[in-house]
Amino acid sequence: MIDPGPIGAVRIAPSILAADFGVLAAQVQSVDAQTDWLHVDVMDGHFVPNISLGPPVIKSLRPYSQKFFDCHLMMTDPGRYLEAFANSGANGVSVHIEVGGTANLISDARALGLRVGLVINPETPYKPAAEFLGDIDYLMIMSVHPGFGGQSFIEDVMEKLRRARADIDEGQLACDLEIDGGIDLHTAPIAAAAGANVLVAGSAIFNKPDPLAAAAAIRDVVLAARA
Ligand code: DX5
Ligand code: ZN
Repeated sequence: MIDPGPIGAVRIAPSILAADFGVLAAQVQSVDAQTDWLHVDVMDGHFVPNISLGPPVIKSLRPYSQKFFDCHLMMTDPGRYLEAFANSGANGVSVHIEVGGTANLISDARALGLRVGLVINPETPYKPAAEFLGDIDYLMIMSVHPGFGGQSFIEDVMEKLRRARADIDEGQLACDLEIDGGIDLHTAPIAAAAGANVLVAGSAIFNKPDPLAAAAAIRDVVLAARA
């Protein structure tokens, strides 16, 4: 079992959506030394208007990385594929609250030995997700509309991060708080100051000439924001 690391600690999660899929394993290994989780964006062309990758790609990538594979399921019917993700080498799956059936999805994923995240879109209210904080390993708040990399950070969602951080700390819950979308050197400290401890970054890492240095720089600004 791959250790996801201490709850609440800063973790940088590069999103492979922005990587060159033709040399995916090499891209993933290039940032290994400065990153913690590997964020894998799965898109079904239905929940979001884009298609990315699925279990066969995860399975192919698995031998090349010891990182925690944080699989973000942008899918209308994730329940149908949980077993395939578990078998492919996923370590955690996050499901969107917007697709419904959340309690069953959480228990089904757990039964397969997966860690479980819950995701909320920018326009989705925080309150319904708060009810699940005690049952999940991480809450992920989208700071872009899911479906595409390289979009602008929606700062309005910081209010949800602050509320979630307060609830997690007050309840002493074993739950990480993840932010996904538009994270770069400017926005990462804003999200960290609002309470995020897992930071997903795609273009700000893989679209840079030196992805390893870009990941390290994001970690540095996040640590400084939390100091
Ligand atoms: C958006 C994805 C994000 C995306 C982040 O649908 O869930 O994980 O890859 O990409 P950037 O960091 O470029 O916004
Ligand atoms: Zn994502």
